[in-house]
Amino acid sequence: MTLPVLVDCDTGIDDAFALSYLACRPEVHVTGIVSSAGNVDVHAVHRNNLALAELLRTDAPVSRGAEGPLIQELMTAADTHGPGGLGHAALPPSGRIEDPRSGAQLWVDAARQQPGELVGLVLGPHTNLALALEIEPELPRLLKRLHIMGGAINHRGNTGPTSEWNIAVDPEAAQRVLAAFSAAPRRPVLGPLEATETLRFEQAELERARQLAERSGHPVAAILADGLRWYFEFHEADGLGWMAHVHDPIVAIHALTGQFASTYPLAVDVELAGTLTRGQTVGDVLGRWGRPPNVEVLTAVQPHAALEHLIGTLETAWV
Ligand code: BDR
Ligand code: CA
Repeated sequence: MTLPVLVDCDTGIDDAFALSYLACRPEVHVTGIVSSAGNVDVHAVHRNNLALAELLRTDAPVSRGAEGPLIQELMTAADTHGPGGLGHAALPPSGRIEDPRSGAQLWVDAARQQPGELVGLVLGPHTNLALALEIEPELPRLLKRLHIMGGAINHRGNTGPTSEWNIAVDPEAAQRVLAAFSAAPRRPVLGPLEATETLRFEQAELERARQLAERSGHPVAAILADGLRWYFEFHEADGLGWMAHVHDPIVAIHALTGQFASTYPLAVDVELAGTLTRGQTVGDVLGRWGRPPNVEVLTAVQPHAALEHLIGTLETAWV
């Protein structure tokens, strides 16, 4: 029995780590990849996802998502992830054919095909899932679980002072997804910055990634190592030192294993109107809204064990 997983991502250096991890786990069947506009424009993300799907030998259909957010203009982060989204990595041309369906339709079809079975992962903005909810409002009940990398609860942002990238790119979409999934039988798991930033890659991990590329000769290992180097350079230029926060994988790791972190229930909503705080995920810790919790917030990450599990998974699969 394998676990069917659909990944909606804006690949993206850390998204590439998460995709690689999922493809290397024998207990997972990646049943769909949705390319989301975000770190780079949707066409660049889609190129990256098609190439990675081919090199990782997944049979997942890869669908192009929407060109941009529901309402606001698209912002991208070429400084963080490089002009093509994968830092210094040069992707070989891919023969992989895209799935002709929209990203939103792929969400709907995948969920309807395996009702109650599919695990959804959102590792980028929520645009495509919000559009999918317009086609199929029953999605929260059709999915087995939803896991999200997004937000910052009682923590500074990494985009605006209080907003995290995946939410800030399309706050309306994130707000609609959280509202719709408050009707889900299981609360979505939200991995905010204070949890994902604990997964710090330092020089030792950069070196290990480089060695993995050398020892395995696997083309994706080389892409990850070259991407990671760019990510380090960006973090250093941003004043954070010679390291990188690799956000997305811990959400995928926890979604599969239920380990390496714990969660707590919380009522969370997205600020849409704030002139200084638009895109902030506001958590009602004291219950002032009188609303029941609508998410499980990822917390208490075991970063060393999670990192070892992540890199160890790739080493086992590729060397
Ligand atoms: C999130 O933003 C993106 O740049 C990363 O891929 C991650 O999903 C972190 O804020
Ligand atoms: Ca991402």
